[in-house]
Amino acid sequence: MSTYDVVIKNGIICTASDFYPADIGIIGEKIAAICDYIDPVHGGEIIDAEGGIVTPGGIDAHVHVDEPMKLLGDVADTMGEATRSAVAGGTTTIIAFASQDLSLTGPRALSQSVKNTIDMYSEQRLYCDYGLHLILARLEGTGTATKDILDQQLGNVYEDCGVSSLKVFMTYPGLQMSDYNLLNAMYASRKNGITTMIHAENGDIVRWMTESLEGQGLLEPYYHGVSRPTIVEGEATNRAVTLAQTMDNPILFVHVSSPEAINTIRRAQTAGLKVYAETCPQYALLSDQDTKCAHGDNFAGAKNVCSPPLRPEEVKQAIWRGMNNGSFTIVGSDHCAYLYSSKAKGKHNAFEKCDRGRFRYIPNGMPGVCTRLPLLFDAVMRNKLNSFMKFVEINCTNPAKVYGCYPQKGALLPGSSDADIVIWYPNDKEYAFKPKVITNDLLEHACDYTPFEGVEIKNWPRFTIARGKVVYKEGKLMHDNATGQYIRRKKTSLSYPNNEWPSEWRPIYTKCNSPVIQ
Ligand code: URP
Ligand code: ZN
Ligand code: ZN
Ligand code: ZN
Repeated sequence: MSTYDVVIKNGIICTASDFYPADIGIIGEKIAAICDYIDPVHGGEIIDAEGGIVTPGGIDAHVHVDEPMKLLGDVADTMGEATRSAVAGGTTTIIAFASQDLSLTGPRALSQSVKNTIDMYSEQRLYCDYGLHLILARLEGTGTATKDILDQQLGNVYEDCGVSSLKVFMTYPGLQMSDYNLLNAMYASRKNGITTMIHAENGDIVRWMTESLEGQGLLEPYYHGVSRPTIVEGEATNRAVTLAQTMDNPILFVHVSSPEAINTIRRAQTAGLKVYAETCPQYALLSDQDTKCAHGDNFAGAKNVCSPPLRPEEVKQAIWRGMNNGSFTIVGSDHCAYLYSSKAKGKHNAFEKCDRGRFRYIPNGMPGVCTRLPLLFDAVMRNKLNSFMKFVEINCTNPAKVYGCYPQKGALLPGSSDADIVIWYPNDKEYAFKPKVITNDLLEHACDYTPFEGVEIKNWPRFTIARGKVVYKEGKLMHDNATGQYIRRKKTSLSYPNNEWPSEWRPIYTKCNSPVIQ
């Protein structure tokens, strides 16, 4: 009988804090040992890393997949397809979204929305584990309008489903929340130790700008970005910080792309506020030029239409700086894939008959769950990202910490962590399968394009191991080992020690004359 089911030999272990050569012993689904040397006789199966870097599996905490509510329309990937694409790029946990079902009422309406989503995915073959954030779509008229009812509902969502995070929107017609309702959401999150994720763009400015651009006949995909410049994100970010400060509530800004927003976040962090932020590879690597026409197709830029939009070239530097200096806590992909034919919903319509389209109707989002890790690993090799430890910190460890699944996920801790591991190729050796450029067929998603087609890449996951089983090996999926599960998450390390609303409300910002909240 072997001591370990699997032994990974000759790798360089890289975590958020360490970089050293060692062997890993796996028993069942868990990491059991990390030692200088494990004698191969103790291993059932031996995987030779041949000097490659060995990291925890990635956690992509921002992934949109098909869900019962279809809040974002017809996205291309099922949960099965998204997890398949995830492991092909070294990600072993994704956190997707369960949207509030507006037809449900009662104290467990929100938790039923999440349960229905989990039920839908239970039918699918999953290549890695997943969790769910709740999307709060609307408060008025849903029986969740008051802060106390919402407080109770969120308590139930946590208790019933292990959901410890919530996304709210400051833009998008139908989803945009008033400041009053943002305060209600933050109040209830604060009371339950739930992390409030914020999509910060000023929806009223976007609306005004969109109408103005349409009035001038400026309709192509490129003008989507013009309708929501960086200050639109800056304003909303600043406002959300103020609201969070008023509520003494930790917040996390998702998909941050604007220098004004980064500066606000940095200032809030310096002031000691519990303000966290996520950015995405597309904001560091693509630009607004990628939303212009290509290959004679005036609508091609629609593939890269997302919100917040891709920014002018010079903004990229600020994104890399924010990753390196800690302003960004995490990197997520914001994978939200639409077939090019679905993007074309933004094309012909009553007002516009030619092929320029009308940007208002283009579904927002692009695929990225597979490419996130390889692109950022590559960024270390190109000296844009400071170190491999930083790579692990922002892509694996911090997402697990902020979303309440550490150290089960995001770490290589013997006895505690699931054996979710990526073995990268040794940098200096050639292999039969070691991609040099990104192509769509590498990505195993259901989308018909990648914004990173043709981009040169210096490394790729060689083995992806999920809960002790190899699910991806040298370009091939191991379908029989696909046994991903739903994971309940804990209250997060962003929240307060006992997650209790203090008996006496204590605003951090004591100089303001806030009304007393009971
Ligand atoms: O354009 C984007 N980001 N689509 C996904 C939805 C969202 O706001 O995250
Ligand atoms: Zn968003
Ligand atoms: Zn998103
Ligand atoms: Zn036209």
